Amino acid sequence: MFNLFKRKKEDHKGSQYTSIKIREIVKETPDTVTIYFEQPEPYLDYKAGQYLTVILDINGNEERRSYSLCTSPYVDPHPGITVKRVKDGLVSNYLNDQLRPGKTIEIMKPMGHFTTDYHSQNRRHFVLVAGGSGITPMMGITKSVLVNEPLSKITLIYCSRSESEIIFKKALEDLETKYEGRLKVIHNLSQPSEAWTGLKGRLDSQKIKDTLSSIYDPDLKETVYFLCGPEGVMETAERTFLEMGVDSELIHKESFYSDLEAKEKEMKAAGKLAPELTREVEVVLNGESYHFEVPAGKTILEAGLDNDVDMPYSCQSGLCTACRGRLLSGKVDMIEDAGLSKSEIEEGYILCCSSKPASADIRITIE
Ligand SMILES: Cc1cc2nc3c(=O)[nH]c(=O)nc-3n(C[C@H](O)[C@H](O)[C@H](O)COP(=O)(O)OP(=O)(O)OC[C@H]3O[C@@H](n4cnc5c(N)ncnc54)[C@H](O)[C@@H]3O)c2cc1C
Ligand code: FES
Repeated sequence: MFNLFKRKKEDHKGSQYTSIKIREIVKETPDTVTIYFEQPEPYLDYKAGQYLTVILDINGNEERRSYSLCTSPYVDPHPGITVKRVKDGLVSNYLNDQLRPGKTIEIMKPMGHFTTDYHSQNRRHFVLVAGGSGITPMMGITKSVLVNEPLSKITLIYCSRSESEIIFKKALEDLETKYEGRLKVIHNLSQPSEAWTGLKGRLDSQKIKDTLSSIYDPDLKETVYFLCGPEGVMETAERTFLEMGVDSELIHKESFYSDLEAKEKEMKAAGKLAPELTREVEVVLNGESYHFEVPAGKTILEAGLDNDVDMPYSCQSGLCTACRGRLLSGKVDMIEDAGLSKSEIEEGYILCCSSKPASADIRITIE
């Protein structure tokens, strides 16, 4: 069972939560807005590329969703997120249609590893591949690289459906002009108008390779890759870079969506899941120990919240790592682990929102 949880909105205590006031809402495209916040006290500490979690009361239920910051802490005085409508999506449509400046909302502070550290002497080539709302973290990273690494360059391949759906079109043009020769933006449209002269159709390996070979610069000592967008775009880009011999450690990925039910079905059909049984687990949260039962079919996070254990979470789909814990004993079936790195998995980290008990004696610590 992976339906997003329905629970009453509560005020959450703890250093990871804060309140933040909406300063301004800017319509970027017919189905996308950027929401800028007033700086809270103390200032919101974040790295470009991280996401924050909005916690809203909609129809009496608490709804949490993750949104990447589109701003750079080095450039933008006010932090912001950019939200694109998802068809029939509850929160993305609420944020597009109903949120107004002046309102204060609760958030979980920024988290995430889709980031990099900067050094003024670095000579790096940033290859960014984005699709749709996946441009959001790329904007923060792009602005941060341009101001912090004067010797580095950026190539951004950005996939949208049509001209009117390109998010930040003008802002990207302005950055290309301001930082001439250091930022190159290549748009690829899947359903362009007849007048469109740029790349069109699906993004494929050849287009990526042609783009990069035309931009090759021997002065750049290191290339790093950042991918964010729909599964198809990310898979194509990753496969292409691996075919080109890129070390997988240099490819950073951020996914916004995962269909956990479909993935669980696939794993079940392949005989990869333990039989579902009600199991007792122990969760050590901020040093306090909680024992509770996880009924057959439920995730560890769902059962914890049902037992009023204030476990942290955001995306509820195994992508953001807000619910990350370390397995000290026992075994779990983790349906989605995309948020974790290979080394985190080797070190025993699990995502409680996508994990179900697969043995007795489960003990997890969450810090
Ligand atoms: C780390 C992280 C960062 C994110 N950053 C951004 C961001 O910067 N901007 C942004 O707009 N979104 C971002 N998202 C996605 C966002 O958190 C929500 O999932 C999205 O807004 C949909 O929420 P909703 O309540 O409108 O849809 P829901 O009510 O949750 O879902 C409605 C239906 O749509 C399906 N669905 C939900 N999301 C998608 C999707 N992306 N593609 C296809 N089907 C979907 C669901 O399965 C469901 O059937 C991010 C997600 C993660 C994990
Ligand atoms: S809540 Fe996002 S990975 Fe679990």
